Amino acid sequence: MMYVKVKKELAERTRKELAKLGVISDEYAVEKDENFVYFPVKSCPQGFECVEREGKRKERKPHSLREALKDKLTNDELEQLITSFDIIGDIAIIQVPESLEDKAELIAQAIMKVHKNVKTVCQKVGPRQGIFRVAPLKVIAGERKFVTIYKENGVKMKVDVLRAYFSPRLSTERKRIADQVKDGEVIAALFAGVGPFPLVIAKRRNVKIFAVELNPYAYSLMVENIKMNALKGEVIPIQGDVKEVARELPKCDRVLMPLPKGGEDFLEEAINLAKPGGIVHFYQFAPEDDLYSDAENKIKLVAEKLGRRVEIVNRKVVRPHKPRVYQIVIDFRVY
Ligand SMILES: C[S@@+](CC[C@H](N)C(=O)[O-])C[C@H]1O[C@@H](n2cnc3c(N)ncnc32)[C@H](O)[C@@H]1O
Repeated sequence: MMYVKVKKELAERTRKELAKLGVISDEYAVEKDENFVYFPVKSCPQGFECVEREGKRKERKPHSLREALKDKLTNDELEQLITSFDIIGDIAIIQVPESLEDKAELIAQAIMKVHKNVKTVCQKVGPRQGIFRVAPLKVIAGERKFVTIYKENGVKMKVDVLRAYFSPRLSTERKRIADQVKDGEVIAALFAGVGPFPLVIAKRRNVKIFAVELNPYAYSLMVENIKMNALKGEVIPIQGDVKEVARELPKCDRVLMPLPKGGEDFLEEAINLAKPGGIVHFYQFAPEDDLYSDAENKIKLVAEKLGRRVEIVNRKVVRPHKPRVYQIVIDFRVY
């Protein structure tokens, strides 16, 4: 390999000149000895001293998980790889099919090669379960930890991926809601988790948000997260069951119900909380062949029982959940 050889003290100036000429090779590393620096070059430029050296090829960062594993897994195994995964702060959470279980660590190491910011890789070893909606995880590579700092929509959040629900896949939805909120609103952020919905809203708007969460770990992280961000609005964290807490809250302009599994059991509380003309954001999981009928029927039944009129103002898919099932949202006004 051809190198331009320069005295150490001239290295930075020479590097700039070579870069200007466009002759530096990016496949080889710059080398040094006690007195000289050696820049790898595609050809020897005029006016520079060039020498031949054996040289070391730079290790190129693979662009994708598949590329990082292409020499380590068979084609069959590569086909089975689940290539979509969440990165929350510096923690990646992956799923490994049973057939690749003995390759889990290899896959985790490959993720850390592709995503240099990832310091821990956790494997999801079961589905989300229980009322707290958390999944069992185990660390399979990197630092043994479950707590990280995640940034989204201008806010910072401390997240415990093992003990409290959090999904980065809802960031667009959080922005959609925050964009609708006006200064002065009173909001009930039910099922608040570590606080992402209330924080993203209160960062932008001068509002009062009651953020209700049952899981004590999620609640205490939410308390920290409120302190960690400079907010325009006020977020009042409340630990407890929506069934009980809702009765104590004032009437609201907006009620958020991000509990797609089982949220229907709290429609009565949400509708009662809404001021006349107030809006409720109701989330559900629904099959792709009939996304909205079931959720809308549930809303109408409860509203009828309570003697309230509802107007559906928007319905949309939030994100895919599993094959042929989506998370959806219905925005409705209550009169
Ligand atoms: C799907 S998570 C959503 C969390 C958060 N909004 C987010 O987007 O990250 C639902 C949350 O509701 C909480 N939860 C479940 N049942 C509850 C109840 N009856 N009262 C208050 N919170 C509850 C769970 O602990 C969980 O944190």
